[in-house]
Amino acid sequence: MCGIVGYVGFDPATPILLKGLEKLEYRGYDSAGVAVYDEKDGLRIEKAKGKLRVLCEKLHDGKDVNGTIGIGHTRWATHGAPSDINSHPQVSDHGKFAVVHNGIIENYLTLKEFLLGKGITFVSETDTEVIAQLLEYYYEGNIFSALVKVLQKLEGSYALGVICTDAPNELYAVRKDSPLIVGLGKGENFIASDVPAILSKTRDIYRLKDQEIVKLTRNQVEVLNMDGARIEKEKVHIDWDVNAAEKGGYEHFMFKEIMEQPKALRDTISPRLRDGRIVLDDITLTREQVEKIRRICVVACGSAYHVGMVAKYTLEKLTRIPVEAEVASELRYRDPIIDKSTLVIVVSQSGETADTLAALREAKKRGARVLSIVNVVGSSIANESDDVIYTWAGPEIAVATTKAYSTQLAVVYMIAIYLADLLGKLSPEEYENYIQCLQKLPEQVEDALKDKESIQYFASKYFNAKDIFFIGRNLDYALSMEGSLKLKEISYIHSEAYAAGELKHGTISLIENGTLVVALATIDSLFEKIMSNVKEVKARGAYVLGVTTREHTAIQSEADYAFYVPKTCEMMQPSLAVIPLQLFAYYVAAMKGCDIDKPRNLAKSVTVE
Ligand code: G6P
Repeated sequence: MCGIVGYVGFDPATPILLKGLEKLEYRGYDSAGVAVYDEKDGLRIEKAKGKLRVLCEKLHDGKDVNGTIGIGHTRWATHGAPSDINSHPQVSDHGKFAVVHNGIIENYLTLKEFLLGKGITFVSETDTEVIAQLLEYYYEGNIFSALVKVLQKLEGSYALGVICTDAPNELYAVRKDSPLIVGLGKGENFIASDVPAILSKTRDIYRLKDQEIVKLTRNQVEVLNMDGARIEKEKVHIDWDVNAAEKGGYEHFMFKEIMEQPKALRDTISPRLRDGRIVLDDITLTREQVEKIRRICVVACGSAYHVGMVAKYTLEKLTRIPVEAEVASELRYRDPIIDKSTLVIVVSQSGETADTLAALREAKKRGARVLSIVNVVGSSIANESDDVIYTWAGPEIAVATTKAYSTQLAVVYMIAIYLADLLGKLSPEEYENYIQCLQKLPEQVEDALKDKESIQYFASKYFNAKDIFFIGRNLDYALSMEGSLKLKEISYIHSEAYAAGELKHGTISLIENGTLVVALATIDSLFEKIMSNVKEVKARGAYVLGVTTREHTAIQSEADYAFYVPKTCEMMQPSLAVIPLQLFAYYVAAMKGCDIDKPRNLAKSVTVE
């Protein structure tokens, strides 16, 4: 959470920082700020509560602030409410150091007490201010040495950008458990939390590892370890299409990303299908190792956890290995039964989610093999896993995930088929059928997307709903969780997802005349069962939207309204049924006038516990 950028070069820094922050707003957007140094004007700090546009307006898009070196920040508040004062950059008592920070300093109170005891005055409630104050406190003329001393005192996570008035041509940066990259330009260099922030300026980057300290000037980038020794870094060239991180004529990133799903699926599936076989070059698991797996544990947060729920049903059914899916924040603190006979599958779009990363480390400590499904190449989770399968979804900007979720599902299917085949659990006919379904999936998603107008129409009738329930069984239950989350995160409508058979054990008491219930009924063998649940809620006054496959027209006699999706094998049905749910959430939020790409209180990359 929080996005940071830094620039040192010959051009005016402020417009560059603001443009970079615009691309990082998905990481947090409750306030923003810049610190820019100019020989004449000195260190200028400009901050504003609210979205970045407030700051941009205040600074006339940066034209008002001189200087060719600076740092910027867009915030997702942890310590201290969103306010001008708590916004970053935070500055030391005598104005020598300015710092931007992403992460949490866990021992900041102890450090603050120490500094207060030395007579240092604090102005904000942030943990970050402690870093700026400590830098000034330990500074004896050498910024690198002061930084090392401070880092030795810090507990927690950080990506930092630092400038000092004594060295107006130098920008310093360092990370631990929070992402940070270095952008390498000609006569200019950059730091950023993520690639899109610098993509319009350079495509050559360094990915930093924990506690590598970078000193950037206009013409040089030095990466040093904590002892001051130089580290040779490998230059990574980013070959994304710049448009991938732009809205490209769409009103919202979320809608663009929904529409990009067929392509994202093609890019994820096609390279892994060769001559009718799934080829997972990315993983090194041998048949012997697979035969020794006694348990699979899928760990993730948010929508990625919902992928984990689908994975539980799918992997168990195909491999007959017991599978557990758990949210990472729970797994990491419960002394889990994980050992070397456990395969831990970690799912994460960003590859930086703090709880997921911590759960991965816990699993590795206990001897498990870790296979991760990640979208961001070179991210921490990808780096620390034994095997990584990348979802080639491209950059996902909207906070509410759509195309990353869909590609994660596709990877889960491929892993399930691959493992089941290695274990000899699939007949040649079954295998072939799965491959055909995988091949057709992108096209079928395209087909499902064509129905968007009918969903838009339905959304126009229900965008004022107070409560919406999603019910389903088995894979449809896993999908209900995602449909419900999508809706509540962007439209702020209260919603719950329930295993359809469980509703009558309490929650059915909430159904009133007109309450909308979305019933997912895509599993043939459970169609009649879910129709019974539909009858139960209708008998209590619910208005029911049914989502099913095209041949189940019988749903019309039970539900009040129906969406049909194309049919695939049972296992892959969630990939098609999720489309109307994503579109429904999107249209409802649009009709309510919500800020779809940046919903309140949320952030896309959650790098705090
Ligand atoms: C945030 C995002 C969700 C995402 C979750 C996990 O809450 O808003 O869309 O599913 O984090 O993120 P990850 O990057 O690990 O998939």
